[in-house]
Amino acid sequence: KLEKIWLILGISCLIIFLTTVGVSAFYLGNKPPSCLTTIDSEKVDTTKPFDKPGLHKVEGKEWDYELVYVASAFSYNPAKVEVPLGAKVKVIATTKDVIHGFEVAGTNINMMLEPGYVSEYTTTFDKAGEYLIVCNEYCGSGHHLMFSKIEVV
Ligand code: CUA
Repeated sequence: KLEKIWLILGISCLIIFLTTVGVSAFYLGNKPPSCLTTIDSEKVDTTKPFDKPGLHKVEGKEWDYELVYVASAFSYNPAKVEVPLGAKVKVIATTKDVIHGFEVAGTNINMMLEPGYVSEYTTTFDKAGEYLIVCNEYCGSGHHLMFSKIEVV
């Protein structure tokens, strides 16, 4: 008898849990906090700012530069970029095909690039050196070959 009560209790908890997750994901549209704006993933190349990947100086904003990346299996565009030391940079990235990762090793940048979404992160590069951007979401046969470099000088 007691076993039955516990079983019902357990299943009830499971149902409540799954309902909460389901409602939050599909109804409220919860997603990783870095994925804020949407984009048509088939028109990435002609959509601003992704029509011009790379580092761009900006005026009148809280950050000095915008660093635009387009990821696709299995590379990032640009493949290498030079960033001035101490610059406050807003990284803006998206993917043209599948989910890719965007982790800048040795920094606090670690984003998920989802098709149809734009991921953004603002940071200051205050240590000189070379930083490796790696893909940390498995994206296919060339996943381990997918990288880009940021050189802070
Ligand atoms: Cu791109 Cu793994």
